[in-house]
Amino acid sequence: MATIIPVEDFDCVVFGATGDLTLRKLLPALYSRFRDGQFSERCRVIAAARSDLTHETYRTRAAHALHEHVPAAELPPDKLSAFLDLVFYARVDGARADGWEPLTTLFDGTPDRIRVFYLATSPSLYGPICRNLSSNGFVTAQSRVVLEKPIGHDLASARRIIEDVGQVFSEQQTYRIDHFLGKETVQNLLALRFANVIFERLWNADVIDHVQITVAETVGVEGRGSYYDTSGALRDMIQNHLLQLVCLLAMEPPISLQADALRDEKLKVLRALRPIAPHEVAQLTVRGQYAAGAVGGKSVDGYLKDLSESIAGTGHVSDTETFVALKMEVRTWRWANVPFYLRTGKRLPQKVSEVVIQFRDIPISVFPKQAAQMQANRLVIRLQPEEGIRIGMMTKDPGPGGLRLRQTELDVSFEKAFSIRYPDAYERLLMDTVRGNATLFMRRDEVEAAWLWVEPILDAWANSTERPKPYAAGSWGPTASIALIERDGRTWHEELE
Ligand code: BG6
Repeated sequence: MATIIPVEDFDCVVFGATGDLTLRKLLPALYSRFRDGQFSERCRVIAAARSDLTHETYRTRAAHALHEHVPAAELPPDKLSAFLDLVFYARVDGARADGWEPLTTLFDGTPDRIRVFYLATSPSLYGPICRNLSSNGFVTAQSRVVLEKPIGHDLASARRIIEDVGQVFSEQQTYRIDHFLGKETVQNLLALRFANVIFERLWNADVIDHVQITVAETVGVEGRGSYYDTSGALRDMIQNHLLQLVCLLAMEPPISLQADALRDEKLKVLRALRPIAPHEVAQLTVRGQYAAGAVGGKSVDGYLKDLSESIAGTGHVSDTETFVALKMEVRTWRWANVPFYLRTGKRLPQKVSEVVIQFRDIPISVFPKQAAQMQANRLVIRLQPEEGIRIGMMTKDPGPGGLRLRQTELDVSFEKAFSIRYPDAYERLLMDTVRGNATLFMRRDEVEAAWLWVEPILDAWANSTERPKPYAAGSWGPTASIALIERDGRTWHEELE
């Protein structure tokens, strides 16, 4: 049983409180930490938004969201009502300099308390909100700001936002969320690599042939069309989540788990990514857009139709990609000539996030050819669902009749090993912001280095007359993504197929 270490009393002010992220993720995460006793009823969740709501009407909305997103068994009425008692509503327009009295009133008398300002809004509001928080005197030494991704839509806009926020909050007070880093299984990559000698010694180009990362989703663009269509899979998933996974897989052992020690190592990986030159983009990347098809036995519309439903009243033509596959290199001695293949997309057949470390073939086989089709070792790290690791290894087929070999799997299911609920990533990350632990958050230079690498791809796509390649919803993306890896004599991990 995990021990819950309570955090100090805090006020968490969430801007964008009527939005999808707050209702679907942040409130359930805060509720779960409260239910488990990690914070007391003296703490407050202050929901801030422009809508004209009262504390009571917002609480009703919050209750509704919790019923929708938290299993009933985890929502006993006494806990729910105790949690709702600590939820308050402040009607403010973050972009305007005036009208901040509701927050002044709520903050009155709590100057020393930890204040977490969570900005779950459009990134264009990050600067204005921070300025207004400062000019109203709300920012104290005990304050911190949490910024949701995406931070900007390219390097220049990211820098502008970072500068604007930096006028008010120091780097130590700024927590840039990449919720993948809050996933238990993503943190487990650190344990796997640095708490076990057997992997680390083999974690290099001598024995690793290539690495694959797949983050597949079955959902489409849902109601997020206006955001997603300006973003696309490269900005939405690769620039942050997948590059962070690359960092954790490729980095050198950090000297400690202190925030900067870990982030220094991740930064080195981002800076070692070989830039993809404009003329290589067509060869090393594939962008796709889902067309109508079927997922989980149900017919679904294509992206353009989803988009017109999401952004009412518009007949859309869009070159936004909902799928990306690419081949990249980490230019360090450890990873020289070991390609990393990444792919992510919406409306794929399964929701699955998986890392495959494909080892090299044995140098010489002493076994007769007829004994076995030799297969190289493979480490499969399943991040979600059915979290666990599997190692494919050659073993002898038991019994008489000659020496026959086949690949079997050493299979460790984390779910079975630890029969506890996996907390949502936001639970951990929210408590880390209160504790002041920035280890699992992105530092400014990481965000910038990630944009720097991604930008030439975005530019080349923007300058190309070629549209994203269509793929049927429910397939594994455009066939070009299969060709991307097969050209090199390799295949995507077939168990996904
Ligand atoms: C978000 C993206 O950051 O991550 C979404 O904006 C995506 O488009 C989501 O669906 C995936 O996260 P998870 O936790 O469901 O794997």
